Amino acid sequence: DTVFVLNGPNLNLLGTREPEIYGSETLADIESALVRQAQDLGLSVDFRQTNSEGALVDWLQEAHASGAKAILLNAAAYTHTSIALLDAIKAIAVPVIEVHLSDPSTREDFRHKSYVGMAAVDCVQGLGPRSYYVALERAAAL
Ligand code: DQA
Repeated sequence: DTVFVLNGPNLNLLGTREPEIYGSETLADIESALVRQAQDLGLSVDFRQTNSEGALVDWLQEAHASGAKAILLNAAAYTHTSIALLDAIKAIAVPVIEVHLSDPSTREDFRHKSYVGMAAVDCVQGLGPRSYYVALERAAAL
C-alpha cells in the first residue's frame, strides 16, 4: 500500500525557514525518517513538495487514480485559503490526514481557519516533524 505525503509552499525551505517555529530539520530529513518508518509498517511512501496550489490538486487526484491507501497533506499556507484543495479532498475516495509542524490554532488568526480540515479525516499538528510520524501511524491503522 502506498501513502502519498504531499507538502505545500515554502516547506522546501525547512531547516532554515523560521527555525524558532519550524525547527532545524529539513524536509529531506523528514522524508528519510518517514520512508524508514513506512518500511517497518509495510507501506511505501510517495513524498513530494510543491509551491503550486494546482500541483497539489493534481497530486490529490493522482493519489485517488492510483488507489493510494491514504494521503498525508501539509498544504502549508494553502490550508487557510484553498477552496480548490477542499473540493479536491471531497472529490476523492482516499482519506486525507491534515499535518502541520506548528499548531496553527495558537498562531495568527488567519491560520485558525482550515479548508483542508473541513474534509480531512484526521489532523496531527504542533509536534514538529513528529506530526508526520504520528500521522503515518494513523494512516497505517486506517
Ligand atoms: C504549516 C502551518 C501553516 O500555517 C503555514 O502557512 C506553513 C506551515 C505547518 O506545518 O506548521 O507554511 O502548515
